[in-house]
Amino acid sequence: MKTVNTISELRAARAELPEPVGIVPTMGFLHEGHLSLARRARHECASVVATIFVNPTQFAPEEDLDAYPRDLDRDLALLEGAGVDLVWTPTPDVMYPPNFQTWVIVEDLTRVLEGASRPTHFRGVATVVAMLFNGVQPQRAYFGQKDAQQAVVVQRMVQDLNYPIEVVVCPIVREADGLAMSSRNTYLNPDQRQAATVLSRSLKAAKLAFHAGERDADALRAIVAEVVASEPLAQLEYISCAHPETLQELDGSIENGLLSMAVRVGRTRLIDNLVITGDSGTRNVKT
Ligand code: PAJ
Repeated sequence: MKTVNTISELRAARAELPEPVGIVPTMGFLHEGHLSLARRARHECASVVATIFVNPTQFAPEEDLDAYPRDLDRDLALLEGAGVDLVWTPTPDVMYPPNFQTWVIVEDLTRVLEGASRPTHFRGVATVVAMLFNGVQPQRAYFGQKDAQQAVVVQRMVQDLNYPIEVVVCPIVREADGLAMSSRNTYLNPDQRQAATVLSRSLKAAKLAFHAGERDADALRAIVAEVVASEPLAQLEYISCAHPETLQELDGSIENGLLSMAVRVGRTRLIDNLVITGDSGTRNVKT
């Protein structure tokens, strides 16, 4: 496995790689969620390029950029174990040289959900992902359903800007107790870690209700809110039941939808989501 930093090193190493090339963009401090993307890419592509870059422009000033966990040596060992061929670890000056002023803005999709409280977040994500795509020139790009809105935004950008890239969205990898894996879980103390299971528990409660016949979007949102309210260490930031592609909030009776949420546990902000569909609803019914 090779590691590169500058754009010229990247271009030279990329030119040697057999195609198709799959890219796995990350901010590092890797866990099984990230590694599931790398393994899927390994399975489906002739070459796999992972990127590690804690992208400053997707953090708001009050967010955790400086505190964001980092462990490059461990990350490189994990990526090598997953069969990655090339790792691009650009430094901020490589990605954002002085006088940088060009941005990729995906409009309506980024005004809702995560974008409502983090107005510049997806501008940072779309811009850095575009730069990663331009550098690596992959045929396939692997993203996690954990960040459902991010996956939708990246798919929109790929279509709108005509990137010849297939976006592959991979399932959420969870801890044994249901907590979606996240680098930010390391911020939680033991009590908070226990409380954090409320995200997956509340989504599961709504899914069970859906399976039992509850189709009303408001009622499903209320079920999630009620379970979160039962956990004193958790504060609900939002609960959404939205169209999985337009991300517009749904009302009335629904056939399928993206249930997504953000919760604060202490100072840590956690997100989770679940896609509910009439089809999987009947397939997964357990009585
Ligand atoms: P990061 O949070 O490091 O996540 C990198 C990729 O791993 C994302 O596609 C994310 O959805 C996926 N991922 C994280 N946790 C996961 C889990 N539990 N199960 C499955 N996939 C999971 O997302 C980013 O970095 C950045 O925004 C980035 C796209 C790299 C741009 O800076």
